[in-house]
Amino acid sequence: MALLTKAIKGTQDFLPSNSNQVRYVEEVAVRIAENFGYHEIRTPVFEHTELFQRGVGDTTDVVQKEMYTFDDKGGRSITLRPEGTAGVIRAFLEHGLFNEPLPFKASYLTSCYRYEKPQTGRLREFHQFGIECVGASEPSADAEIISLAYTFFNALDISNIKLEINSIGCPECRKKYHEALASFFEERKGDLCETCLERLQKNPMRILDCKSPVCSEITKNAPVVLDYICDDCRDHFESVKKHLDAMNIEYTVNPGIVRGLDYYTRTVFEFVSNEIGAQGAVCGGGRYDGLVEQLGGTHVPSLGFAIGIERLLLLMQAQNIAFPEYDPCVLYIAAMGEKAQLEASKIALDLRISDIPTQFDTAGRSLKAQMKYANKLNALYSVVIGDDELDNNSVTVKDMSTGETFDLAVDSFSEDFEEIFSSRLIDSLNQMFNVEE
Ligand code: HAM
Repeated sequence: MALLTKAIKGTQDFLPSNSNQVRYVEEVAVRIAENFGYHEIRTPVFEHTELFQRGVGDTTDVVQKEMYTFDDKGGRSITLRPEGTAGVIRAFLEHGLFNEPLPFKASYLTSCYRYEKPQTGRLREFHQFGIECVGASEPSADAEIISLAYTFFNALDISNIKLEINSIGCPECRKKYHEALASFFEERKGDLCETCLERLQKNPMRILDCKSPVCSEITKNAPVVLDYICDDCRDHFESVKKHLDAMNIEYTVNPGIVRGLDYYTRTVFEFVSNEIGAQGAVCGGGRYDGLVEQLGGTHVPSLGFAIGIERLLLLMQAQNIAFPEYDPCVLYIAAMGEKAQLEASKIALDLRISDIPTQFDTAGRSLKAQMKYANKLNALYSVVIGDDELDNNSVTVKDMSTGETFDLAVDSFSEDFEEIFSSRLIDSLNQMFNVEE
């Protein structure tokens, strides 16, 4: 039975009492993305397993250890998306979007699935706000997407978040780097874990993200990729930095950032915080010039990033950032008796259609309990309807904060209440902004 009332390890609920937080960050995300010309894309939660094996790379931790993969009833191997980029590029190719003027720009808010060891900021189901810019080769594009993430964090009033950038070069200069890494790790082969021994053969760079304590200790002295990049990649990186400087976006170059997914080329970056525990990377992204080709398209230089919503919320909570609350309940209708309840349903619907948040009792409470509940809801006004009120065609509305009351006719209640509420709202807004009558 305990299983029935326990969410799966590494997953969590967003309850209505704080869903305003996630809704707020998502609304800001969509608004900022749109200001930068990114509109939303929605791709399926599952894709063919091969898409991630090829896209993310089959020597990565994500593909080797963390994917939720299963055969469906038709015998296809299906994987719950561990990240958003591969699905977006699949959609770009499938819908022939390369025939449209480029860059193709898309943003997304999605759930992702990784079978990782859960801890603070690390879940098995988590959510990302991401953007992908497909078909933009210039360094200005790298700086522009970084500036999008930067604008988003600013819009949320987040401070103290550090931008770290690096270049991991192109496949050409990467070859030299791989050789250097391979000979470095070859000498320390005896201490590497089994997965890393395999990586040493296939993709030594992936040893750099191994989470085993022994391997991570060894990697501390490994050669850094920035020392091996070619002139073109170096020029590109220098130009990205100039654009960031021009926009006054502060950064540090961290040669240790290599990212855990195989598709990256040239610029990679993370926004990190030291206020949310060990999982400090709130945003990760970079350029992936070879991915479209790798998935069957032509050469289309591209780039993007994703921000983890749960880590973002942890950070905002750590920084005591206030979230906008939901609109309060404007009117609570306490109804006694069947006729009054029918009237309450009708009035509530009329007011809700007019966008006035209204509630009434659906749990069979006594009048006293209904008023207590109205208080708990922080309703701005309440009204009691019973047989007497219906017979006299008159109800008394109470302003719950001042205790002031006024009477309205039952048969024109919704129109009259709406008018009074709107004019009071306008008065208080005028007062708030000191507008002269
Ligand atoms: P990523 O670095 O794997 O990149 O993930 C991006 C962000 O998702 C991380 O910085 C983190 O905030 C969040 N995240 C990742 N794993 C977890 C987890 N297990 N629990 C909670 N949050 C997590 C990507 O996914 C790339 N697709 C980003 C990208 C887009 N690059 C180019 N375009």
